[in-house]
Amino acid sequence: MISRRQWIQGSAALGVAPLLAGCSAFDDGGTPQPPIPALKDIAPFPMGTCAMTGQLDDPAWSRLALTHFNQITPEWEMKMEYILTPDGYRFDASDRIADFCRAHGMHMHGTTLVWYSQGEEAFRGLSPADFRRKFDDYIATVAGRYRGKVRGWDVVNEAVAEDGNGLRAHHWSEALGKIDHMVRAFEQARLADAEAVLFINDYNLENNPAKGDTFLRLVERLLKAGAPVGGIGSQSHLDIEIREGQIGRFIQQAAQFGLPIHISELDASLKREGGMPDVRTVSKKISQQTDRVKELTESFYALPANQRYALTLWGVRDTDSWLRRPPHDDGKDSPLAFEASGQPTAMGRAIADSLSG
Ligand code: XIL
Repeated sequence: MISRRQWIQGSAALGVAPLLAGCSAFDDGGTPQPPIPALKDIAPFPMGTCAMTGQLDDPAWSRLALTHFNQITPEWEMKMEYILTPDGYRFDASDRIADFCRAHGMHMHGTTLVWYSQGEEAFRGLSPADFRRKFDDYIATVAGRYRGKVRGWDVVNEAVAEDGNGLRAHHWSEALGKIDHMVRAFEQARLADAEAVLFINDYNLENNPAKGDTFLRLVERLLKAGAPVGGIGSQSHLDIEIREGQIGRFIQQAAQFGLPIHISELDASLKREGGMPDVRTVSKKISQQTDRVKELTESFYALPANQRYALTLWGVRDTDSWLRRPPHDDGKDSPLAFEASGQPTAMGRAIADSLSG
């Protein structure tokens, strides 16, 4: 692999400046910053981002997304909240994203088939037999439609309780069993798509080691029950104040299953959640953020090649982030790799540095 410096020199000589994002960037002190290479060109694994159909028509978004990323996860239009309507299935948006991926030679990752936060209303009042039928039909129809178009699916999303103590209780577990609804979902997904890597996906796995442990015990249980779990997804909405080593430790523990790992929704808010007063300077927050993001990128990079499914950021520019929408938005957070202008953020540079070795 070429180093970042070699890449920049080589690209300048070859006149591939359009690939460079950040040619006229300046740091806070006004010092010109070097551009960063296209992330997808320096990563030896797919680099993903999420997308909404509205963004596909934004030339600035597309240019940046196509320069740096080679995999897309639909941000929400492939979820039950969009696809399942009272009048039946609605695939216009996820089809458009699939077409965009195909047109641009990008991979696609599907999310999400079973999520505690969705489907409650649509499944309310069904008899047990109808519930099972509708559940199976949803997975068969959705996963079947994108067979050959997606590399993988988040089959079960966010199964572990918020505090890491056990599993969540919800309409799926109540109707089909705490573990059994997951086994069933994986089996149905496998029937619908024999090739896709089938993920169990969750968040705060590195931020909260107790939750990480519960999650990995769940993976073990599902595998023992015969569920065709094929990959481990860690959303990685990072808490930048966690201790050094926590992220690396979780990734190594997760890797012990030998399955592919997906960092599926990386962002790293500079804001502190909760009521604690925050007296950190901006430069302190940025150094916490870049240190943790480097730890994540380098721990992921250090995995065996066949376990590096993808590293996906949950958005392209800071202003695209779900954290920059109500109720989270303070107008200042910088949780992603690019500024609104398309220049790389400190976090974008940290990722490029880690990938360049
Ligand atoms: C969020 C999207 O960013 C929003 O646009 C959507 O309205 C709700 O979902 N965990 C997940 C993601 O699994 O699917 C969530 O994405 C972010 C938290």
